[in-house]
Amino acid sequence: MIELNTIEALRKQVAEWRQAGECIGFVPTMGNLHGGHLSLVDEARARSDRVIVSIFVNPTQFTPGEDFEAYPRTWEADCAALREHNSDLVFAPSVEEIYPDGPALRTRVEVPALNDILCGASRPGHFTGVATVVAKLLNIVQPDLAVFGLKDYQQLMVIRHMVRDLSLPVEIVGGPVAREPSGLAMSSRNAYLTDAEREVAPALYATLCVIAEQLKAGEHNLERLTAAGMKAISQAGMKPDYLEIRRAVDLMPAGVGDTELVIPAAAYLGRARLIDNIRLTLPAPGLQASA
Ligand code: PAF
Repeated sequence: MIELNTIEALRKQVAEWRQAGECIGFVPTMGNLHGGHLSLVDEARARSDRVIVSIFVNPTQFTPGEDFEAYPRTWEADCAALREHNSDLVFAPSVEEIYPDGPALRTRVEVPALNDILCGASRPGHFTGVATVVAKLLNIVQPDLAVFGLKDYQQLMVIRHMVRDLSLPVEIVGGPVAREPSGLAMSSRNAYLTDAEREVAPALYATLCVIAEQLKAGEHNLERLTAAGMKAISQAGMKPDYLEIRRAVDLMPAGVGDTELVIPAAAYLGRARLIDNIRLTLPAPGLQASA
């Protein structure tokens, strides 16, 4: 596996592969790779001739007081895992390479409709940092396709909207949520959970599953469902941030007639902020008004 850390060297390598007519798949990450990331690498591998993975802990998406400095950096283990999953190249630029004028952004990319809702409400500026760095990485690598996890559903929507709005020539692929046997969604931040918290954390996904089942069974009172969900998360021992029922296509509040839904949620547990979601399709005529 080739290891590069400058934009110039990366572009040279990509140009060679392109000249040979090869299709390029890209998986952007912040490292500390787990089974979820590696399933995205496998997805890219299955769809492309060459797979590039970036490892860059992006300072502009951490809000003040978040864990930028403490974010786990596990270079050796990450490279070993990427080799095992047949990645062709790892791109690990420095902060100076990506932000030569410093990380206080002069040019930024923002998707206003999605910026301040759900996770964006608790993490102001987070999605501006994500959209900006992903736009930069896509410009640097210029892949045919890029794979992002469905676990970060709002992030995936931000990227899909950005790519469409800016007419970027790349296919965005959503990779399925990888889960531990307990149902807990895999995440780098699960490393912050104590053994006791690991027992509690699966209650987040379990709650989403119950709500999805109730929706499918015809309970369409969204307020009642979300209030019960928040209560269940609290009772399990977490501090809920939000739990909502939204339209899968654009994350706007779900309403009568909608069939494609997503239930995103976030909760604090010890040092970790857990996020998860579940998508579901209701049969026509979709959501109904309920008393
Ligand atoms: O999901 C992540 O790991 C990051 O938000 C991403 C997409 C690599 C951008 O820094």
